[in-house]
Amino acid sequence: MQNFTFYNPVKIIFGRDTVSKIGREAAKAGKKALLVYGGGSVKRNGVYETVTGSLSKNGITFIEHSGVKPNPVLTHTREGIKKARENNCDVIIAAGGGSVIDESKAIAAGVKYRGDVWDFFTGKAAIKDAVALFTVLTIPATGSEMNSGCVVTNEETKQKYNAGSQLLFPRISILDPETTMSLPQAQTANGAVDALAHVIEGYFTTKDPDVIMTDELVHAIARSVITCTDRILADPEDYGARASMMWSATLALNGLQALGYGGGSFINHAIEHSLSALYDIAHGAGLAIVMPAWFKYHLKTDGPGRLIKFGNAVFGVKSAEETIDAFENWFKKIGAPVRLPEVKIPAADIPKITENALGLINRWEIAGYDRKTVEGILRTAA
Ligand code: NZQ
Ligand code: ZN
Repeated sequence: MQNFTFYNPVKIIFGRDTVSKIGREAAKAGKKALLVYGGGSVKRNGVYETVTGSLSKNGITFIEHSGVKPNPVLTHTREGIKKARENNCDVIIAAGGGSVIDESKAIAAGVKYRGDVWDFFTGKAAIKDAVALFTVLTIPATGSEMNSGCVVTNEETKQKYNAGSQLLFPRISILDPETTMSLPQAQTANGAVDALAHVIEGYFTTKDPDVIMTDELVHAIARSVITCTDRILADPEDYGARASMMWSATLALNGLQALGYGGGSFINHAIEHSLSALYDIAHGAGLAIVMPAWFKYHLKTDGPGRLIKFGNAVFGVKSAEETIDAFENWFKKIGAPVRLPEVKIPAADIPKITENALGLINRWEIAGYDRKTVEGILRTAA
């Protein structure tokens, strides 16, 4: 096990009927909120009403910033910053999924910065200050509710990049599993694939294969995600499964999932971000396409050891090939795409996707992935 420092200050309020606590909690930080949400799911499932009622009851006035896109974009983020500044917002409330939370994080940092918020994503500037952020999560997927990163797409340059700072940890995140019961099946599946992807990245690229605790945590999260998703797809109203799924996805990217691995890379994410940047597909769908192809590459370059260990613990299979098949079959079973043509991406575009992916691979300093390697992985996914 490699040395590590772990810090995660996010207070989680979890369970039924917890959304109404948002106002009392947020009132400790400010009186004028920017309320950020997406395309309207929060209006249809009652979250909006509960949040706004709670804000008003606790003396918080709010300005709305709605219309956050899945795969949030830079222009809309800049609009949010302008709105928050013009209205002197001293607190930001994000109600929705990872996209809403990520854009809110970028706004929180952007409001306090004189330059352009994109500077944080290119590494031109570091985040030095941020407005207090509170979240109400409505989809288990990204872990953004309990981590310090955010991902935004620059529509002009087609770069889907991330920014991060300890200042971006939400103060409080409210996780009420009942809010997730309105999720369409495809979004449930996308979230499950994303949570799985978050635990496999570190596990399969670890610099140290002798980290029993983290390996077992990864196995447990993966088994929980798979079991819960199967139960949710059979019965969307299954509260127990919704609850464990929600907490599993949070644990899958709050830092615990990679402790002791001594680094590791997010290579599947680096390649996927190009798919969602260029074609605006769901992040989870892109990962379900990249992962089986990358596992085949990993088997060739790193051997079967980790695949056998994971497959044995999670799927009850014996060989590396069976583990890769088990992943792919489970993705298919839950309705996720596993090849590029399923999301209408032609093989002819692979050089263009590779070019885009190399931008992030360089930015994240992932060694060993040149143009030929990335193209090869994408061709396996074609
Ligand atoms: O926009 P609305 O109307 O709210 O609808 C959303 C959206 O269409 C809908 N939805 C969310 N909760 C719902 C619901 N529909 C019905 N009932 C509910 N309870 O689901 C759709 C997808 O929402 P989105 O927020 O885009 O999903 P997700 O949470 O998967 O976020 C994806 C984004 O997060 C980034 C991804 O790249 C992508 O941009 N990521 C963020 C990370 C982070 N900050 O740590 C890490 C991840 O690896 C990822 O990159
Ligand atoms: Zn992800």
